[in-house]
Amino acid sequence: MTSPIYFDNAATSWPKPESVYAAVDHYQRKIGAPAGRGGYQAALAAGQLIERARAGVARLIGANQPEQIVFTSNGTDALNLAIHGILRPGDHVVTTVCEHNSVLRPLRACAEDRNVSVTYVSCDNDGLVSAAEVQAALQPNTRLVAVLHGSNVTGAVQPIEKIGQAVHSHPAMFLVDAAQTVGHLPLDVQSLQIDLLAAPAHKGLLGPLGTGFLYIHPTVQQQLQPLRQGGTGSSSHEDRQPETLPDKFEAGNLNVPGLAGVAAACDFLQQRSVENIHAETGQLTTTLLNGLARLKPVRIYGPPAGTSRLSVVSFSVCGYDPQDISTLLDASFQIASRAGLHCAPRLHRALGTEEMGGTVRFSLSYANTKAEVESALEAMTSICATCTTEG
Ligand SMILES: Cc1ncc(COP(=O)(O)O)c(C=O)c1O
Repeated sequence: MTSPIYFDNAATSWPKPESVYAAVDHYQRKIGAPAGRGGYQAALAAGQLIERARAGVARLIGANQPEQIVFTSNGTDALNLAIHGILRPGDHVVTTVCEHNSVLRPLRACAEDRNVSVTYVSCDNDGLVSAAEVQAALQPNTRLVAVLHGSNVTGAVQPIEKIGQAVHSHPAMFLVDAAQTVGHLPLDVQSLQIDLLAAPAHKGLLGPLGTGFLYIHPTVQQQLQPLRQGGTGSSSHEDRQPETLPDKFEAGNLNVPGLAGVAAACDFLQQRSVENIHAETGQLTTTLLNGLARLKPVRIYGPPAGTSRLSVVSFSVCGYDPQDISTLLDASFQIASRAGLHCAPRLHRALGTEEMGGTVRFSLSYANTKAEVESALEAMTSICATCTTEG
């Protein structure tokens, strides 16, 4: 029997590096205390773990100060904080059709509850957005431009540097959803002129599930309202939420076991280098894309091999429901893939894949191998052998 192949890294990465498992286990067994709420040794050690995680994330994305990173429970939580915390009644937002529901749904809620208006910039056939179109959509009352860095459907990497320049010709703030790029692509929030960057720490960053963060540029900190108030272990004599970072946005106990894993994951990424991981997974992705392209019933969505793209590969197989392909891959070949709309309904409408039930998605990580890619291609070859139509 062959070993299972995990190709659902865009949902969450697996396996994590050994050092991440060890760090979580060490915290759970040897420390166990809450952070920031006690002066005894274990509580101080828990606090140090969090600060290591904060410094590691800041280093990874080029943030000036670790305090500019606030921890959240996932990417969705970070995006909700950014969107609900910034928008006021009557504001206008520019976003794109490529966004995940973690952006689309908070915006929809703001439109319904706060009379916020939203412009959705379209994309080309590969899922790429143009910075000029984003700029053209700006209005005098645009307060936020929310754009995903890399697509969880097409793998397209958006021109966020150009978009950042366009946004900063206007007073609007620039929010980037880096769910699919943190840990996969080198990132520098300062040169990219990003005001808010939201990301999970459990995907490319390789931390445990239930971790995420929001980077907050100092110039937007005061305008961002917390969504929760509560204990921080600081300024306890006051019943007003502290205004200082990160306490303003970190009410309640943090997920210290998860953050112990995040600290270890940041060290792992620094040692292995994000550039190298991107180059290695990029080669596997090219092999995968070229192999799939040789199968006539398969149609691939997203930028071609060799261009600026992620290791996220979406495809359809002519005549088949994507869910059936994914089930077949799992049941007959032990390959974990994902099928459906991948929480990006507007993008599927733009790509013309909504009616057929979305796409099948393979998404790779540092842990995947050439042998796994070859096995997946063999599996797809035998599935396609039963097809009568072309892609
Ligand atoms: C582009 C994008 N944004 C946001 C999210 C939400 O992240 P999380 O699952 O950590 O809430 C995802 C998750 O798949 C995503 O792919």
